[in-house]
Amino acid sequence: MSQVNPIILALDVESATEALSLADRIGGCVDFYKIGMELYAAEGPAIVRELRARGKDVFLDLKFYDIGETVKRAVAQVVRLGVRFLTVHASKAVMEAAVSGCGGSDLKLLAVTVLTSVDQKDLEDDGYARTVSDLVTLRVRNAIAAGIDGIVASPLEAASIRAMTGAAAILVTPGVRSAGAGHGDQKRVATPAEAIRSGANYIVVGRQITRAADPGAAARDILEEVASVYRSAPPDSL
Ligand code: C5P
Repeated sequence: MSQVNPIILALDVESATEALSLADRIGGCVDFYKIGMELYAAEGPAIVRELRARGKDVFLDLKFYDIGETVKRAVAQVVRLGVRFLTVHASKAVMEAAVSGCGGSDLKLLAVTVLTSVDQKDLEDDGYARTVSDLVTLRVRNAIAAGIDGIVASPLEAASIRAMTGAAAILVTPGVRSAGAGHGDQKRVATPAEAIRSGANYIVVGRQITRAADPGAAARDILEEVASVYRSAPPDSL
């Protein structure tokens, strides 16, 4: 992989005012922002356009899941917004429809395999007869076969998923915390450096930056932490 700024900042806030003032405070050390369901439900495509107008890349984390035609048409609208990453659930039919909605554009599709909040009991309740890890493996394989560009994964699964996908896939890992930073409600975390070392191309960071007294400084600390990984290993070997 080429060495890029790997931070995607999660804008888990409820208004465009909050989101944009955060982006303006952080400035140039974060170029990529994740908009999830909360902010998108509050502000719609306007917040995507505002960030794009500031020269920022947008990861739209809406985890699409619907009938094929609806997914295809919705993805085509996301393409028109100039979004860089979009998540879809790793159902075969959903992923195939999403790929066709991309129509050769620059939008990169990321598959969500099994939500990290889901455990074995949840799968049984939903009628699945597989273990969580078997289902993750199956869905990663299906994602690659469907032509999906990348996978969202826990940093603790990143190395095994990277082994399945090969180098070309984009691996994005939330659930990262620097040593000494508060975990919040995250239980299974790894440091940004560990995530990159395990094969992640991008790390999604939220509260460690957004709740810091100086968010820009918190972002720069993470960049410094991961720079030491890039320095110690040739980027192409990551
Ligand atoms: O504040 P924090 O760094 O925990 O935020 C993490 C972001 O990543 C949130 O937007 C959360 O929804 C997302 N996420 C996660 N764990 C997953 C998948 C997504 O924390 N397994």
